[in-house]
Amino acid sequence: MNINFTYLPGDGIGPEVGAAALRVLNATASAFGHTLEIEEHLLGGIAIDTVGTPMPAETLASAQKTQAILLGAVGGPKWDHLKGADRPELGGLLPLRKTLQLYANVRPAKPQSALLDASPIKAEYLEGVDFVIMRELTGGIYFGDKGRDALGAYDECRYSEAEIERIAIRAFEMAKTRRHKVTSVDKSNVLETSRLWREVVIRVAKDYPEVELEHTLVDAMAMHMLSRGKDFDVILTENMFGDILTDEAAMLCGSMGVIPSASLGEGKLGLYEPIHGSAPDIAGQGKANPIAMILSAAWMLRTSFDLVAEAEAIEAAVTLALDERQCTGDIGGTLSTLEVGEWIADHAGR
Ligand code: IPM
Ligand code: MG
Repeated sequence: MNINFTYLPGDGIGPEVGAAALRVLNATASAFGHTLEIEEHLLGGIAIDTVGTPMPAETLASAQKTQAILLGAVGGPKWDHLKGADRPELGGLLPLRKTLQLYANVRPAKPQSALLDASPIKAEYLEGVDFVIMRELTGGIYFGDKGRDALGAYDECRYSEAEIERIAIRAFEMAKTRRHKVTSVDKSNVLETSRLWREVVIRVAKDYPEVELEHTLVDAMAMHMLSRGKDFDVILTENMFGDILTDEAAMLCGSMGVIPSASLGEGKLGLYEPIHGSAPDIAGQGKANPIAMILSAAWMLRTSFDLVAEAEAIEAAVTLALDERQCTGDIGGTLSTLEVGEWIADHAGR
């Protein structure tokens, strides 16, 4: 088949991990008899520098008509002086997620056995950890009214019942395909949006009697994730809590550089991106770990194109690379970003 997608390398290490992932996609596509049709566009800081806006019209138009988007990362210190929608994140990445209504961001945490030593957490807390964070991605404080006034600054946090309901349904549906448990994370002892969150989640749960539901406050969850991560299956939470908890979850897996994500809406369109940022401190040095990006590409094949065998070939090659330490320095290897991509491409394309 023709695998047609929009490719947005973005900033910092984005283009490096992206190049490695494209090697893997090319090798896999040719091994399985597919062709790749890649539409590359600018997003974020690179778009500001090149055409003066973080979200060029052509980028949005391409994203709106494609079936899948593969994205590197956006942002960096170079654009830190910019405000509001002039910024790479607020004017690029967030409107992309919002305009396409990709409200369900899925981020898995399942430590690979080869990486148990790479985590700063003791191995006994990592064994058996296998959960997914279902993060609401297009609402909450990220998208509320924000600004400055005479007294200071403010960021409004709002959630509608409909927004909570649709992400809760996604979490319960996912739990049905896994270990039948949803842990909803909120701050309902303080926040009104969290009180509504809890009410709506309880209501949705009534349609899923086979799924166990528990509620946890976000501060406690930050602790439980490390002390008893294996107790969780699907963790359902709002936008900002999900942002914070997914970085924490990455540490259970050994590195920010190994966790992919998918942002999904109602249709087949998906935005696939590593959970890590643009890592400006290591950009341009060939040190960035491309595995999160490569796994994001595999996820894209599986979910947006129904290419399950192809995705599995890439995932198996990643596991083999880790087992054989064919990886970057952050997880104990000696290869460069592109060398890891080439190694995985060779093994996925067999
Ligand atoms: C993420 C990132 C983004 C977010 C930033 C770059 C705006 O941290 O995808 O987790 O906060 O959503
Ligand atoms: Mg984040």
